Amino acid sequence: MTTQTKPSVNEGLEGIVAAETRLSHVDGERGELIVAGHRLEDLAQHSFEDVVGLLWTAAGVESAVTPRASPLPPGTLALLRDAASRRLAPMDALRMGAGTLVADDDRSAAAAIVGGLPVIAATYARLLAGHEPLAPRPDLGIAANALYLFTGNEPHPEHVQALNIYLTTVADHGFNASTFTARVITSTGSDFISAVTGAIGALKGPLHGGAPGPALDMVFEIGSPERAESVLRQKLAAGERLMGFGHRIYKVRDPRAEVLGAAAHRLFTSAGDLRVYDLARQVESVALRLLEEHRPGRRLQTNVEFYTALLLHGLGLPVAQFTPTFAVGRAAGWTAHCFEQRARGRLIRPQSRYVGAIPSMHRVPQPTA
Ligand code: ACO
Repeated sequence: MTTQTKPSVNEGLEGIVAAETRLSHVDGERGELIVAGHRLEDLAQHSFEDVVGLLWTAAGVESAVTPRASPLPPGTLALLRDAASRRLAPMDALRMGAGTLVADDDRSAAAAIVGGLPVIAATYARLLAGHEPLAPRPDLGIAANALYLFTGNEPHPEHVQALNIYLTTVADHGFNASTFTARVITSTGSDFISAVTGAIGALKGPLHGGAPGPALDMVFEIGSPERAESVLRQKLAAGERLMGFGHRIYKVRDPRAEVLGAAAHRLFTSAGDLRVYDLARQVESVALRLLEEHRPGRRLQTNVEFYTALLLHGLGLPVAQFTPTFAVGRAAGWTAHCFEQRARGRLIRPQSRYVGAIPSMHRVPQPTA
């Protein structure tokens, strides 16, 4: 009789290190994030385009070009018009729009993605609002164009700075689900457009990039600080997860929440109305207390999505635009990981353990009619 050792199963690939990377390092115990050799807190001083360049260079791309917001091909625009007429969700429109981008090689694909996603996202938001699309302005950077293409107005420098901080803050974050998706697709030898289209699908989920909309809805549902405890207790008792809290890697406060919280505070202060900001801070503090009660020792802390919601709301973006805006920033990391994966060339192909029925080894001959 032969004995077979069963392979161990790591549900959710928790704790598995699948590759070495020069792109980012997430220290979940110390609450630190390093992106392409720079501390997160220092990245905010760079433009989003600079951070894309840092990531691509770290991925081994020689003389990386600066990506620019690029006009949409006619086919992409026609598709977005059709999607808007059917009122499709912005993340679905972004996924479909990204899939229409074409490029001859990896470098032009990466440039088309980083320069194309902000234009697709803003154009679609504008179409949904019933306005005609605008062409990106060559004198504006990606953050400024993202605001201009949506509102049609000259973007306010403080808004541009706040959106730039957001985009640089979310540019890369280790082997998160959407980045891993992009790397798996690239590892098969497929193209970057396919990889990023798949990544957009992964980002959409509420356990990943889809959380900020529901996080803001939760703050508005609570409405006033004295209701926070009862509403949050009800949600937890009903088995709901509090959006914007908890993280697979961070066991302390997500450092991105710190950077985005400070940016949101500046934005709301300069607008002269801190009511939503103050409410969100109070909701956060009650949520953290109740989560500790709910799962003692699990160390469920505020994640990036809570302050994403607040900052993007302060910029006047509709809730449905939050996750597409996340995709605009994360495109920096996705494309850099595609380059890094391409250089490795190793197919990503884990195993599974079969627990289904085993057919009999000896087939019983069936009588023929
Ligand atoms: N609210 C309530 N309970 C929670 C929360 C939360 N936000 N997060 C985790 N828990 C509970 C889980 O129900 C689980 O309890 P159980 O052991 O009784 O089932 C326990 O804490 C451990 O949670 P896990 O699911 O093991 O944590 P995991 O690492 O798989 O999940 C995740 C991380 C998905 C982010 C989770 O914390 C969550 O769902 N948060 C809310 C959604 C969210 O904010 N997503 C954005 C994440 S940031 C990003 O992706 C960019």
